[in-house]
Amino acid sequence: MAKAVALLALCVLAFATIAQSHEEVFDVEGKVYCDTCRVMFPTRVTQYLEGAEVELRCRAIENGTVTYSVSGRSGAGGSYSLKVHGDHQDEICDVVVVSSPDPSCNEIVSEIDSTRLCLTHNSGIESAVRYANPIGFVKTEALTDCAEVLDELSFVPIELQH
Ligand SMILES: *[C@@H]1O[C@H](CO)[C@@H](O)[C@H](O)[C@H]1NC(C)=O
Repeated sequence: MAKAVALLALCVLAFATIAQSHEEVFDVEGKVYCDTCRVMFPTRVTQYLEGAEVELRCRAIENGTVTYSVSGRSGAGGSYSLKVHGDHQDEICDVVVVSSPDPSCNEIVSEIDSTRLCLTHNSGIESAVRYANPIGFVKTEALTDCAEVLDELSFVPIELQH
């Protein structure tokens, strides 16, 4: 009997630890790109930026006060990963671009400078990983291939859904 109780206690403890670690840390994954065609969405000639600074900020829905922030930098292929602690149910969380490593691609525009995330387990999403939509900077001068790239898109309208 004592053994069974001890075993039960261990299981409860193990579950509690798992539940707690799931609640406490979200892994936000995303990419930073350079909009080389100045069209506000990624195309086949989009370049992904390594070394871009990004910041995740959560604000209280009630009053807009910043309740949480964490920053990071993109690595190879423009990918970044941010660890977010805590559940952010009554907050609005966004990842925003902060600075670009490329002086020819550092224009910040509202259409692509941020993306919103849901960072709570009370939304029915069990996983602790959240995939963010790509965010980026706009290139000062569009590449010369862009006319052709956009022409291709107009023949394949489904591509625009990306
Ligand atoms: C804003 O709302 C949050 C959440 O309700 C609260 O904790 C915080 O104190 C409020 N801040 C201000 C400045 O009212």
